[in-house]
Formats: sequence, structure tokens, C-alpha cells
Amino acid sequence: MHRFVFLVHPLDLKRDVARKYPFVKFLPAPLVEAMLWRMKPKLLGKVEGVKSTSGAETEGWLIAVPMTAKMMIEREEKAVSAIVEACKLAKELGAEIVGLGAFTAIVGNGGVEIQERSPVPVTTGNSYTTWTALEATKLAAELMGIDWQNATAAVVGATGSIGKACAYFLSHGAKVGDEVRFESVSEVILVGRNEERLNSLREELNAKASASIRVTTDIAQGLNRADIVITVTSAMDAVIEPEHLKPGCIVCDVARPRDVSERVHKERDDVLVIDGGVVEVPGEPRWEFSIGLPDKLTLACVAETMLLALEGRLEPFTLGRDIRPERILEIASIAAKHGFKLAGLRSFERQVSEEQIRRVRERVGKVAIGK
Ligand SMILES: NC(=O)c1ccc[n+]([C@@H]2O[C@H](COP(=O)([O-])OP(=O)(O)OC[C@H]3O[C@@H](n4cnc5c(N)ncnc54)[C@H](OP(=O)(O)O)[C@@H]3O)[C@@H](O)[C@H]2O)c1
Repeated sequence: MHRFVFLVHPLDLKRDVARKYPFVKFLPAPLVEAMLWRMKPKLLGKVEGVKSTSGAETEGWLIAVPMTAKMMIEREEKAVSAIVEACKLAKELGAEIVGLGAFTAIVGNGGVEIQERSPVPVTTGNSYTTWTALEATKLAAELMGIDWQNATAAVVGATGSIGKACAYFLSHGAKVGDEVRFESVSEVILVGRNEERLNSLREELNAKASASIRVTTDIAQGLNRADIVITVTSAMDAVIEPEHLKPGCIVCDVARPRDVSERVHKERDDVLVIDGGVVEVPGEPRWEFSIGLPDKLTLACVAETMLLALEGRLEPFTLGRDIRPERILEIASIAAKHGFKLAGLRSFERQVSEEQIRRVRERVGKVAIGK
């Protein structure tokens, strides 16, 4: 059996650190941060019971890198060293592949610098994350009665690793063998902060795209016509507010920390926000330390790490900001072979019910599901 390690880190200074050390709830945030700066990567617990439908098994461990996203961006060199140290701990435990979670996959040029210094191959998990984000978005579009092929889709954070890959498939469609898994949409709007990078991405995608492609650095302008939004920035705080969104649209929020503000949840009952990248794991997974999802479910980046262990593909499968589309189609096939699948639709960490979709559709005057 091949074993894996997945690296996590606190997204929120107090809430997430308190899950491991409950006493920090009573400490002021600057003191918690000072405590984290002095800590070393820490073993959180074992993950057991992952069993592929083909019979292969894997198990692994979660290791915490004790830095928030803000701390990692502030001192990137220190973050890279802490992540490499965590990879060394993974090797000592017997792991043969390491998955980089959240910002551990962003610093160090999307894992490239980590791979150069790690004794174990690493993967960002962004290939399977891209695929499941698209799958969830397509499912949500069907349930919301959005005509995919005539839709306008916006990708926020389009110049990033997952953003670029999502923009590619939205504008080109996706085929697995002879089977068309997604048609392209009608128009793709690339939303980002850097116009030059956006324009060069548009040129790159335009070569064979079926959809028309526009770019904008103005998020409000980018989103106000979009029927479909996939958001994948590495921003520290929310970037999508209620006033940005078109009534009846769907928003797939892949980012951790989230891109969609809590206000959208409270104030816009006419849009459907779904969490990107949540996957059902085959077997009877047991987590000594919970990352906040039911035991059967995990994030797609964790699932990619498990899949590589199950498949014996102990290699840096996904790294950097340019993921080849073939890689994404390959991990989709590996996932299907081992019985991993999209965990339905979830929104702000809860399962989306038919009733919820019916209510959103009724708010925008669309006929309810099943009527
Ligand atoms: N759900 C999951 O399973 C899962 C798995 C993997 C990753 N993730 C999350 O997905 C997100 C993206 O990951 P990635 O690897 O694609 O990151 P990435 O390659 O670093 O790309 C992030 C993009 O966000 C943009 N950005 C950064 N700060 C911004 C801000 N303040 N406002 C607007 N745009 C901003 C960057 O644009 P510029 O070009 O302007 O700098 C960049 O294009 C992260 O939040 C990560 O934690 C989730």
C-alpha cells in the first residue's frame, strides 16, 4: 500500500487554531499569531479506510503547517521552508506522495519550489479540483435551468492555476475519449487584476476556443451579465459582494479562504452559491482530525493525493500555474476508475437541497424542479 500526507494550515487565526488548541479561543489574536510563528509543522492525525472500488487501499496523515494565509504571503520564504520541513516529516512517517492544501499550494510558485527541496513528490491537487469545480458547476446549471451552451460564464482569478484551467474548459469544452463531458459556453469573461496577464491569457485561449472571450479588471462589470461564475482567487478576503451578481446566476466558490462574502448568503436568495471541489471518497474513511467535512467527503485536492497513492503514481502530478488540460482529463479518469465522485452540491458547507434550488428558481421566476 502506498501512503500519503496532506498538508493543511489554519485559514482563520482563532477558529481553526482552536480546533487543535481550544485554549486559544481565550487569547488575543496577536498572541495566537506570535505562538504560530514559533511552532513547527505538527502531525494532526491519521486518515484510514480509503478503499477504491477496484480494491486498492491507501491511508495517510494530515500535517499542519502552522501559518495562516496572511502569514505565508507576508513571509513567503519562511512559509516555503516550513512546508519543506513538513514534507520531511511526511517522509519519516512513510508517505510517498504529499498533497499541498490551500496556501501551501500557492506559495513557492504553486509548489514548484517545494518540489525542488522536498524528499517526497508533491502535488497541488489543482487538476482534480478544476475537474470537480466544473462538474459541480455543470450540475448546478442543469438544476437551475441555465442553458449551458448559450450561457455567459465569468472566471474570477482567471490568471491563476485553477482559473486558467477552468477558463480553458469553459471556452473549449471537454471530451473524455469520444464522450463529450462539457460543451463550451457561449461567452467567457476573464476577471483578474492584471490587464496584461488577462490579455495574454485571452490570446492563448482564443487559438481554438469555441466561445467568445472578453477580459476585465472590474469585477462588477465582469459579473453583472454572468449566468455562471467560477471564482478561484487567492485573495485573503471575500471579493464577491451581493451587488455584483445577476439574479438567477450560479457561483461556484473554489477559493479557500472563500471569495464569496457572507453577505451574499444573507442578502441574495435569488442566486445559488455552491462550494467547489467537494468529493465523495470510496470505502469507509476515518479521520483522526476532521477538516470540517463529514467523514465520507473531502476536498478535491485531498482526493487527488489519495488517487495518486491508490494508483501508485508517486510523482509531482500537478504543479505551477499552467496545468495541461490532458492532466485534468487523466485525473478525472483515474477518479472514475477508483470510485471517487462529486459529492452532490454543497453551499457554505451544507448539502444543497432540492427545496433550496426550487426557492432560488421561484425567486427569479423560473419553473420549479419537478413541476
Ligand atoms: N476547494 C479545493 O479543493 C481547493 C483546492 C486547491 C486550491 N483551492 C483554492 O483555490 C484558490 C486558487 O488557487 P490557485 O492554486 O489557482 O491559486 P493561484 O494560482 O495563486 O491563482 C490565484 C489567482 O487569484 C488572483 N488574486 C490574488 N489575490 C487577489 C485579490 N486580492 N483579488 C483578486 N484576485 C486575486 C491572482 O491574480 P493576479 O494574477 O492578479 O495575482 C491569481 O490569478 C485558493 O484560494 C486555494 O486555496 C481550493
